[in-house]
Amino acid sequence: MIRQTNFSPDLLIYCFFVYLMRMKLDIVILAAGQGTRMHSDKPKVLHELAGKPLLTHVYHGAKTLNPDSIYIVYGYGGNEVYESLPALDVEWVEQAEQLGTGHAVQQVIPNIDDDNLVLVLYGDVPLITNDTLKALVETGRSSGFSLLTAFLDEPRGYGRIIRDENGRMLRIVEEKDATPEEKAINEINTGFMVVKASLLKPWLKKLGNDNAQKEYYLTDIIEIAVSEGSEIETLQPGSEIEIYGVNDRAQLSQMERYYQLIQSHELMRQGVTIFDPARFDLRGDLEVGQDVEIDINVLLEGRNRIGKNVRIGPNCIIKDTVIGDDVEIKANCVIENAVIGNACQIGPFSRIRPDAVLEDHVHVGNFVELKKSTIGHGTKINHLSYVGDSEVGMNVNIGAGTITCNYDGANKHKTIIGDNVFIGSDTQLVAPVTVKNGATIAAGTTVCRDVEEDALAISRTEQKVVKKWKRPGKTKH
Ligand code: UD1
Ligand code: CA
Repeated sequence: MIRQTNFSPDLLIYCFFVYLMRMKLDIVILAAGQGTRMHSDKPKVLHELAGKPLLTHVYHGAKTLNPDSIYIVYGYGGNEVYESLPALDVEWVEQAEQLGTGHAVQQVIPNIDDDNLVLVLYGDVPLITNDTLKALVETGRSSGFSLLTAFLDEPRGYGRIIRDENGRMLRIVEEKDATPEEKAINEINTGFMVVKASLLKPWLKKLGNDNAQKEYYLTDIIEIAVSEGSEIETLQPGSEIEIYGVNDRAQLSQMERYYQLIQSHELMRQGVTIFDPARFDLRGDLEVGQDVEIDINVLLEGRNRIGKNVRIGPNCIIKDTVIGDDVEIKANCVIENAVIGNACQIGPFSRIRPDAVLEDHVHVGNFVELKKSTIGHGTKINHLSYVGDSEVGMNVNIGAGTITCNYDGANKHKTIIGDNVFIGSDTQLVAPVTVKNGATIAAGTTVCRDVEEDALAISRTEQKVVKKWKRPGKTKH
């Protein structure tokens, strides 16, 4: 008996979708331009937004789509772009002469398989979200060509979308080539597009450079596609901010504020109190617990990790630091590459330099500088001191004006202070030197030799008293 299998239409549609889903996605990021309007020797895509190059932001956005490949087209500034960003997992393609966005894509296209889908991103448009990109890719998968456009109150600088009376897209005109009527159109080209490689390849071959900038515009593929009867799907981003490009330094600073606000709101959603999001800057990565309060003008740079219930006072700068729970950092502290234990109190006006490790319950007060030192549990250094290259034990009290003299003009030396030591004010500890557990150093002492456990060290010139001393008066002229 021969059994005949009938494919249901549903199954065929399903198979078609599976085929579409399997279509590989390649992302091309255009980053070869100089960015003339930045007036900079540095390629535009290396200018930083929130402490990271613009291109890095675009790259991270691209990564969220899990593409099969990411290509970055570089050119202006030669190797500088890729040498500055060794961590990016991409294929770098050179555009030796920057002859336009179309010419830039032409450099990559031979690497891309005909069956793949191509998403074009611009290296100077950093805030595009994963939701928008996903929607663009999905429409591109089914239509073969989709373009992200936006309606802006202030469309100046962007390419304008020209449609016919039925709303069908006809072409894009660049600002520099636009007539006054075209400039009045407020639908703009964001630059983001998804095109099947098999369509894109022949269109790219047809590009010319007969325009105001004598460039091969990628945007001209729209007119070519339309002339061949292709339909172009357009869609819009969730928010206008996503498509803002950085072309000059004014836009860069504007973008910085937008981005900082986005980050602040994300942190507030996680349970962080930010006294004024307009006066908070995060340049880098932050891992943060709940009930953290951040006062005004705080700058967090690099990679910081902050525990629960931490208060950061106004005007603090904190970089690459780990902070425990229940810590209070008062106003005007600068902290870099340090580890701060639980329930520590820092500041105001403390400077904590690299490789300082504070165990729990340490107090560090005003005008105290710490460097490359471990400070034991419960130790207090409350005023005007420098502690460098030191190991300080538990429950030590370091009086005002204490200095570890760690440098002899050629080499650095260590100071070791045991537990329960009391160091009187205005002490100099001339390293290498050790003060053992329970020792006391009298105020004003210069410690040049090791001090035994529970001993008192004192070095002072004896006080002289001159009775009825008359101070000199002012000379009369
Ligand atoms: C481009 C679009 C414009 C759109 C706007 C959106 C074209 C012709 N115009 O204009 O329609 O509204 O972006 O932000 O595409 N680049 C190269 N090689 C080149 C030239 C540029 O890689 O030869 C790169 C740049 O580094 C940049 C991106 O392409 O990352 C866009 O170039 P840019 O000169 O800024 O184009 P716009 O004038 O902003
Ligand atoms: Ca641009």
